[in-house]
Amino acid sequence: MNIHYFNFAFIHENLPGLVIGINLLDMKGEPKIIEKLNALLADEMTAISQYIIHAEMCANWGYKKLHDHIKVRAITEMKHAEKLIERVIFLEGTPKINLLNEVNIGENIEEQFKNDCRAEELAVKAYNDNIRLAMELGDHGTAYIMRSILMEEEGHLDWLEMQLEMIRQLQLKNYLMEQMS
Ligand SMILES: [Fe+2]
Ligand SMILES: [Fe+2]
Repeated sequence: MNIHYFNFAFIHENLPGLVIGINLLDMKGEPKIIEKLNALLADEMTAISQYIIHAEMCANWGYKKLHDHIKVRAITEMKHAEKLIERVIFLEGTPKINLLNEVNIGENIEEQFKNDCRAEELAVKAYNDNIRLAMELGDHGTAYIMRSILMEEEGHLDWLEMQLEMIRQLQLKNYLMEQMS
């Protein structure tokens, strides 16, 4: 340790140009961006909990197709959380993984879809708002990452809206008959 420190001090005094180079590599992020990334992380952690519970409730009711689909969605949210954690660490912030918002569990399939739909609507809005903020602050890397997540949230929302429309058209009983195997 001491040797490294000595080397750095030596370089610092004799090659100030190199020190400028080191400063250019300092990727410390805007505190506002780190705060927003952590808020998005809380949303993702909440979605993971909500969707895993919904998926397992579907399995328990015998709706295997729904279980499989919702489980895949929960795993996608885990990957979103991973991307956000990676970005916070890259920006030299501290990822806060212990924050959780209210988890809204639906007591039946339709209620689950409506609650998940609401979560996805909020996610789409939050990512859009924060992409705009990151662009304004000149953090295009964070905006790029959030845009890739946003596209998947839009896909989730689209699927949920489609299911609710199918229930409306086919009636719940007929819709659920199709979800068993
Ligand atoms: Fe997500
Ligand atoms: Fe989502």
